[in-house]
Amino acid sequence: MTDPLATAPRVLAATPDAIAEAARVLRRGGLVAFPTETVYGLGADATDDRAVAAIFAAKERPRFNPLIVHVANVAAAQALVDWSDAAARLADRFWPGPLTLVLLRRAEARVSLLVSTGLDSVAVRVPAHPLAQELLRAAGMPIAAPSANRSGEVSPTRAEHVAQSLGSAVDLILDGGPCAVGLESTVVDLTGPPALLRPGGVPREDIEEELGKLEVAGEGGTPKSPGMLANHYAPGLPLRLDATDAAADEALLAFGPDAPAAAVTLNLSPTGDLAEAAANLFAHLRALDRPGLRGIAVMAVPERGLGRAINDRLRRAAAPRT
Ligand code: TXA
Ligand code: MG
Repeated sequence: MTDPLATAPRVLAATPDAIAEAARVLRRGGLVAFPTETVYGLGADATDDRAVAAIFAAKERPRFNPLIVHVANVAAAQALVDWSDAAARLADRFWPGPLTLVLLRRAEARVSLLVSTGLDSVAVRVPAHPLAQELLRAAGMPIAAPSANRSGEVSPTRAEHVAQSLGSAVDLILDGGPCAVGLESTVVDLTGPPALLRPGGVPREDIEEELGKLEVAGEGGTPKSPGMLANHYAPGLPLRLDATDAAADEALLAFGPDAPAAAVTLNLSPTGDLAEAAANLFAHLRALDRPGLRGIAVMAVPERGLGRAINDRLRRAAAPRT
C-alpha cells in the first residue's frame, strides 16, 4: 500500500496568495495545475526544457505530443509566432477563449523546442478564465499546458479530478471550481491553408464565418492530424539507433556515463536522467544535424518512463523518409 499522505497533492483555493505561490512554483520549474474555461491545464514554464519534460513525465505519455502555449494576450502571442491576417481575425473575435492557433515559431521565440516536439510551429492560446489570466500575469512567462490528466484518461474539469488523476505528480493545484466549457479548445492550423486539427469549444462554423471553408484533419486526404504532423520532424542526417560506437564521420547522440569517443558528441544526460534527456532531445538533434557528416549514431535509451516517449520520437526520426 502506498501512503495516501505521500501522494496527496497540494490544493489551494484561488486567493491572491495562492496565485503568487503558484507563480513561484512555475518560476522554479515546477508543475501547477490551473483552471481554464475549457479544462484544467497542467502548466509549466514554456521556456524551460526541464519543466516541459516534467509535464510529459507527470502525464506518463508514451509519446511526446506537442503542447499548447498559454499567453496573457495577443502581444505575448506575437512574440512567439509569426502573426498573420487570419490569426488577427480569429484572435479579435475569439480571444480570450477556447481557440488555439498553430502558427510558425519565430526564430527569436524563447519557447522550449520540446513544447512543439521539434516542429517549426507553436500552438498558442489566450485563455479566458480569470484565474488563468491572473496566473499568466503573476508568472510573467508563457505557460505550456496540456489537459491535467494522466495519458489515456479524460480531461479534468474540476480540481478533484486533477488530484485523483495526477496525485503528487503535480506540485500545486489551483482550485477554481468547475470549468465552464468542459471541452478542450478548438485547434486551427494557420501554417498553411486554414485547417481544423481538433474540434472544440469554438464551433467550426463560427471560424468559417471569418476564414471561409476550413480543411479538416483526416477528411479529403488532408494529412494534417496533429499526431501525423508531429511525426514530420526529423533531422536531415539519417539516424542509426542502438549505437555502441560512432564512425569517424558520424555524430554521436550519447546517453549515460559510458559514452564511447566520437568526433562530435552531445550527451542527452551524462547521469542517465530521463527527464534531462527528454529536455535535451530536440535541441541536441538539431545541433548534431550538421553538414559534412554521414549520420547521427544514437545510443540506446531505456524503454521506461520518459524513455518510451524519447524512443518513440527517435524511431520516427530514424524511419525511412517518404
Ligand atoms: O482546452 C485546451 O486546449 C486545454 C487547456 C488546458 O488549454 N489543453 C489541451 O492540451 O487540451 P492538449 O495537450 O491535451 O492538446 C493539445 C492539442 C493536441 O491535439 C496537439 O496535437 C495540438 O494541440 N497541438 C499542439 N501544438 C501543436 C502544433 N505545433 N502543431 C499541431 N498541433 C499542435
Ligand atoms: Mg488532452
